[in-house]
Amino acid sequence: MVTFASIPTTKDSSAEVTATDRLVYADQLSKLPAKLAQVATSQGFKAKPGDTLVLPSSTTGKVEVLVGLGAKSEVSLETLRKASHSYAKAVAKHQVISTKLAMAGTRLDKAASVRAVAEAIQLATYVYDARKGLAYEPSEGIERVELVTKVADAEDELAKAAKVADSVSLARDLGNEPGGNLTPEAFASVAEDIAASSGLDVEVWDKDRIQAEKLGGVLAVNQGSSYEPRLVKLSYKPENADAHVVLVGKGITFDSGGLSLKTPKGMQTMKIDMAGGAAVLATMSNLAKLGCPIAVTGIIPLTDNMTGGYAQRPGDVFTARNGKTVEVLNTDAEGRLILADGLSLASELKPDAILDIATLTGSASVALGTAYAAVMSTDAQLTARLFKSCEKTGEKMWELPLPQEYRPQLDSFVADVKNIGSGAYGGTSIAGLFLKEFVDAESWLHIDLGLSAFAESAKGIQPKGATGFAVRSLTQLLCDW
Ligand code: BES
Ligand code: MN
Ligand code: ZN
Repeated sequence: MVTFASIPTTKDSSAEVTATDRLVYADQLSKLPAKLAQVATSQGFKAKPGDTLVLPSSTTGKVEVLVGLGAKSEVSLETLRKASHSYAKAVAKHQVISTKLAMAGTRLDKAASVRAVAEAIQLATYVYDARKGLAYEPSEGIERVELVTKVADAEDELAKAAKVADSVSLARDLGNEPGGNLTPEAFASVAEDIAASSGLDVEVWDKDRIQAEKLGGVLAVNQGSSYEPRLVKLSYKPENADAHVVLVGKGITFDSGGLSLKTPKGMQTMKIDMAGGAAVLATMSNLAKLGCPIAVTGIIPLTDNMTGGYAQRPGDVFTARNGKTVEVLNTDAEGRLILADGLSLASELKPDAILDIATLTGSASVALGTAYAAVMSTDAQLTARLFKSCEKTGEKMWELPLPQEYRPQLDSFVADVKNIGSGAYGGTSIAGLFLKEFVDAESWLHIDLGLSAFAESAKGIQPKGATGFAVRSLTQLLCDW
């Protein structure tokens, strides 16, 4: 657990501090004291954003870390996040650290800078070690951060930052949890605990209820599984809310592909296939504490996608919640089947907007690489709103089209639609078009996380494993609504 305290620029940091930073702009390297400049040069320190150089500790036992910020004119909130992340990694073994990063970047919004720095430091300390063995000794790490800042009400911003970072960590924990442990029932029970501690109403539908509610997509995917499905419904209703948004998150607790089986390699990371559902739960877990002004409902259909004897066969047809029949030609295109029901339920609530979020297609990352999530929407204003939030959080999302001319690819010989297209191209948009068949609302937006949800190796401020991608932007979007 990391705690933050703000320290006015006039006050000295406390005696326990053993690590401090010295901010360096790439175009002002020459302003460093001559000796330091010499060390920096000899160590190849160029002061690019994220560059750090730990200076040999002096006799005081304190270390000073040079932290690069790039060119002064180009400093952004994302620079502060990168720099904070690198600084936290460089001093990871210190318990009490001090940072002046919140004062960098003179043109930046001060409150946002404080938040960016605190979020990035807390998230840099994230580790998933819940399932290490008895011999594992957790390393001591940063416990207290003294943030030197001129912002008067910094404590407020720090409290908000901690909440947001907690949400991201929750999404990461859920994503890193093995599929054999985080069953639909286990996920639902986590959701109940979270709801109880965060002012949310929660409803969990078991298999009987799911059958009674005619969630044909959830049941079809669940046929091959030994674990029962669940559907989690969360609601946040502040007083005087004048808008209502529904979030729908894909909750496939493990995706083997079903009978259209994945390759061994393709399956290795598929415990992450509930990342959309985790993002919805994690985002909602802090809406009350952050004072989000609008009503938000979260819908998370949960099942794994397995190959048991009753598993759906390619060619099978089911009837979805909204009455449409679906021919399943590839059982590995399962996320869209459970989302179909989730989106129908969302539409029935007649909200002002529906957003769904899912690790839906590998093609999203073929198109955009793993740093971006793909966005498709029927409402340009909602897209603009989300992108504005992404600008603030630094999370990268990019729009893809929903071309009506591809819609015939989903025509089925035996049912209303089939669950895959007929060619090899445009898989992300085809999946989006499939989902659209189950949306009955003016304003809908779909986020396909692709591989942004899970990193093979740590990159920039993202850790290895589950990233918690989109939690910060969804939180921003709802709180700014
Ligand atoms: N969960 C996968 C998509 C995925 C793959 C997300 C890798 C993140 C990393 C999804 O259920 C899936 O298998 N999609 C198929 C769709 C295809 C069968 C039309 C895919 O992307 O190959
Ligand atoms: Mn799949
Ligand atoms: Zn999947």
